[in-house]
Amino acid sequence: MINKNIEKVLNEQINKEMYSAYLYLSMSAYLSSINLNGFAHWTRQQYIEEQEHALRLYDYVINRSGKVVLKAIDSVKTEWNGVINVFEDILAHERKITDSINNLVNIAYKENDHATVNLLQWFVSEQVEEEATVSDILDQLKLIEGKGSGLFILDREAKTRTAATTNE
Ligand code: FEO
Repeated sequence: MINKNIEKVLNEQINKEMYSAYLYLSMSAYLSSINLNGFAHWTRQQYIEEQEHALRLYDYVINRSGKVVLKAIDSVKTEWNGVINVFEDILAHERKITDSINNLVNIAYKENDHATVNLLQWFVSEQVEEEATVSDILDQLKLIEGKGSGLFILDREAKTRTAATTNE
């Protein structure tokens, strides 16, 4: 049986992951609208992964006999100032999510809930990977100043991404 405080903060994290999914989908729509179909694909794959993150927490709460409470998802931004601006926002957003995960780990330790600490370790590693990937893409985009044949090549590369899905 899951502790009520842990249940509450995990439900909040489910909402943050769903918000992340929604944000990436909005970015994907924007990138399609400026004809960067590779990056639109990349952010859409990320939309799928964020839903998987939410489901990983959802399944855990249910497996621990807790109650899943799905609250409203906040609306998201719909306009950006080019692809560099999108990736700046992604990096800032993922850093906030990393802070949120670290905070959850602290709470789980305080509650002496080792199973939850164990679950969260996967998220800790995932955040390191996400921040590194996004930071690399942002550096490359800045290098080519977000334009020209360099942008064409990066957009084509972004199209090859496949979402890592593990949940059913
Ligand atoms: Fe679920 Fe992008 O962190």
